Amino acid sequence: MLFARQMAICVHTQLSDQLPPYLLGPLCRNLYYFTDPSEFESVCHDKHPVLAVPSAVIPVIPENIFAQNRGRLVEFSDGVRTVSPYSYMALPINISSDLAVRAVETSLGAIRSDLERHTLEHRLNISYEDIRKITEVGQALATEKSFDKLIDLIIERARELVDADGASLYLVERASNQETPTHIRFKRSALQLNANEFRLPIDKKSIAGYVALTGEELLLADVHRLQGNTDYTYNSSFDKMHNYHTKSMMVIPMKNHRNDVIGVLQLVNKKRIPDRELTLESMQGSGVIPFNENDIEIIRSVAGQAAVAIENNILIDDISNLFEAFVKASVTAIEARDPTTSGHSFRVAEYSISMAEAVNRVARGNFSNIYLSSEQLRELRYASLLHDFGKVGVREHVLVKSKKLYPEQVQNIRWRFQYIRKLFENKMLREKIEAMKNLPREAWDSLEQKLEIELDQKNREVEHMLAAILEANEPTILEEGSFDFIQRIAAMQFYLDGEGTKPYIEPEELYSLSIRKGTLDDKERREIESHVTHTFNFLSKIPWTKDLKGIPRIAYGHHEKLDGTGYPLNLEAPEISIQTRIMTIADIYDALTAWDRPYKKAMDPLRALSILEEEKKQGKIDGEILDIFIEKKIYEKVHELKRGQEQVRVI
Ligand SMILES: [Fe+2]
Ligand SMILES: [Fe+2]
Repeated sequence: MLFARQMAICVHTQLSDQLPPYLLGPLCRNLYYFTDPSEFESVCHDKHPVLAVPSAVIPVIPENIFAQNRGRLVEFSDGVRTVSPYSYMALPINISSDLAVRAVETSLGAIRSDLERHTLEHRLNISYEDIRKITEVGQALATEKSFDKLIDLIIERARELVDADGASLYLVERASNQETPTHIRFKRSALQLNANEFRLPIDKKSIAGYVALTGEELLLADVHRLQGNTDYTYNSSFDKMHNYHTKSMMVIPMKNHRNDVIGVLQLVNKKRIPDRELTLESMQGSGVIPFNENDIEIIRSVAGQAAVAIENNILIDDISNLFEAFVKASVTAIEARDPTTSGHSFRVAEYSISMAEAVNRVARGNFSNIYLSSEQLRELRYASLLHDFGKVGVREHVLVKSKKLYPEQVQNIRWRFQYIRKLFENKMLREKIEAMKNLPREAWDSLEQKLEIELDQKNREVEHMLAAILEANEPTILEEGSFDFIQRIAAMQFYLDGEGTKPYIEPEELYSLSIRKGTLDDKERREIESHVTHTFNFLSKIPWTKDLKGIPRIAYGHHEKLDGTGYPLNLEAPEISIQTRIMTIADIYDALTAWDRPYKKAMDPLRALSILEEEKKQGKIDGEILDIFIEKKIYEKVHELKRGQEQVRVI
């Protein structure tokens, strides 16, 4: 059979089904391919001769017919148009049919090689791309600190990597006491972000439960047509509820370094065209294809990294919880030494964090450039909880001292005055006996009466003195005249058998009673104030992480004043951090408003605020922070916290 130059050869071959759209351009140099047999037949009808080639059916049609149909023939279902003006073979005139067949076969062979090369190149490119994406995922997982964001990241990246429409993640619930876990917990789905968590038993009934139990990977082409004798079944309630059609599925266990399954990653509906959104029809039709071995490789790698990231995150959380519990237990133990301060540190922490969060929200004045990160807030919280931890270094009787004299000193004075009373009584009785010996009987009555009046007088004087001492013992400021009286009492003496003369008030008792304000003398005050240094020394011994290394310094400054009049370092404003300034206000406010303090009644919040305002005016505390404390009514919010709690005495 001979072919003229103007004759076109059209080929319909099995190969054309395998040709991805992007390969059509280069392959259409010599031959034109149909992808739809019916199109082929409509053009190449019986009238035209057919050239038989082993792997193709080749009709020979006049070029004008080919030209008329060209546009239609190259319209592919996915919209890619590749019209080539040279889509025919140009053969010499008078070519023999044998040669024509060989020419076509050679062309088809070249096409096969081309196809293979392009396919391999494509797969290589995909592998490079996969490796790049997997590496990126690994980096992202290693740096994500928030647990929820980490879970989202794993789901989202896994989904993207294998063109899945949906992804879900289950975590094995950690059992206490090393028992074998019995349940997995659904954490999150890429399809339904607000879905509630739920539990599934680890058994062979559900797909995720099966994978968690066996550690096997599952590749399911169609969950509605499960192959073989499977114990698990697909639960289609999600599909029904959300008008969805789950078809292909890949389920991979997430294993830790001990090879324990810690979670399950489930990918749903691999898209045939990655960027195209699936409709219910396309899910049920050809829009969804099965996951393949390459997908398993990729997700296996992601699941491994995800397992490590999740375990790390859980470990960090565990350490954090452990530390939190340890801090709380320590603070509770320290405050137990002085029940009157119970709850103080926790409230100071609450006040401080509320103030810091309010500072973050305020965009004015000095605060416009200040934002305390979540790490800094955590640092402030621990510093607040531990700010008075140094009380551990203060002797307990000083710590709880509620009067100028210690209770045993008061008891001593009481015994002493009782003894003095007995001395007077004794003296009176002696005089009485003497009188009885020396005076006539009729003089006894009047003498006894006189002596008793004198004794009564003495007793009242002693009572009066004791009452004055007890009054002076109170932490209130003494009136001038009262203290003169105490000094006069101290100058009085009595005789103690075997000991000689003794003062009514011992010098150290007088020293304590002469305290002008509060209950502490200078030495005791210094001892109490040393709690700040003990706090610093104690906190400095803890190997804080980078995020928390500021804790000792923040706590160290909680009794400093901006004008340099605080202690222990007499720091001034530029040296005092915002965290410390916040905590100082919280500490003072809680000290003032604490209820039932032994030495002072609880102060009304408004009165406490006016005292803080006074400190602000004197430049002792940060005025802007105090304004926020008052404006945002932070004191009120936390005040609620106090009700029903034991109240404190704050140092
Ligand atoms: Fe305090
Ligand atoms: Fe303190």
